Amino acid sequence: MSNDLIIRDLHARIGEKEILRGVNLTIRGGTIHAVMGPNGSGKSTLANIIAGHPSYTVTGGDIFFKDQNILELDANERSRLGLFLAFQYPVSVPGVSVANFLRAALNAHRAEAGKDPKQTAIPVAEFRKLLREGMRGLEMDEGFTRRYLNEGFSGGEKKRLEILQMTLLKPGMAIMDETDSGLDIDALRIVAEGVNRLAGPAMGALVITHYQRLLNYIKPGFVSVMMDGRIVREGGPDLALELEAKGYDWVREELAGAA
Ligand SMILES: Nc1ncnc2c1ncn2[C@@H]1O[C@H](COP(=O)(O)OP(=O)(O)O)[C@@H](O)[C@H]1O
Ligand SMILES: [Mg+2]
Repeated sequence: MSNDLIIRDLHARIGEKEILRGVNLTIRGGTIHAVMGPNGSGKSTLANIIAGHPSYTVTGGDIFFKDQNILELDANERSRLGLFLAFQYPVSVPGVSVANFLRAALNAHRAEAGKDPKQTAIPVAEFRKLLREGMRGLEMDEGFTRRYLNEGFSGGEKKRLEILQMTLLKPGMAIMDETDSGLDIDALRIVAEGVNRLAGPAMGALVITHYQRLLNYIKPGFVSVMMDGRIVREGGPDLALELEAKGYDWVREELAGAA
């Protein structure tokens, strides 16, 4: 099965407004691929649609992962298939500890149709061991997992939790939508170190960002530029540097010139 994420001629709208206007994009399995673009170009919309967020209406096109058209699958099925979306706006869940949340996520992945969930659930001792190992890699305090989900978490703590979740779930493709607001350097570094540690033949990553600064820490093999709901340019790491130096206007001007 292929770990490539293949997006073909994707069209989508929110309400009456068409936001994605024919996105063509292939993320090769096992690679780090950055999607950059100005605010409002449709980057978060794309990430949310890949993850199966219900607010958007897909009006055309396909998304393939593991040789399946994932648009036919619900968000849980996509997650079980190995797609991971770092929550853009993590919600707090009072009364659910980090440890219980992670165990439930892992067990949901291990569940099999027709089997008693008790049979497929990870044994508690094994889970504790996995959790300890994952946390050690992230230099997290043991007490962290006893806290309630996202309640009073700093930006950096939320990011650590995302990376810890990725470490446990071992997705084939991680989709990171790094909004420009509210991500301090500490949080950026946590995300970058996590992606760099986990990315490899078994895990590709689609890293969405407005600013080039994240790419000082994560080195993508490929860069695509999104503008007005389409991918308008593709290149290697140099393209990110060019955008940092020159902004997005020159891309827009070139497109207008070519039209
Ligand atoms: N819930 C929504 N309702 C209406 N319009 C939206 C909604 N979310 C996003 N949009 C619009 O869709 C466009 C793309 O937004 P978004 O995908 O968030 O862009 P980006 O992540 O590239 O900044 C913007 O014009 C934005 O105003
Ligand atoms: Mg966004």
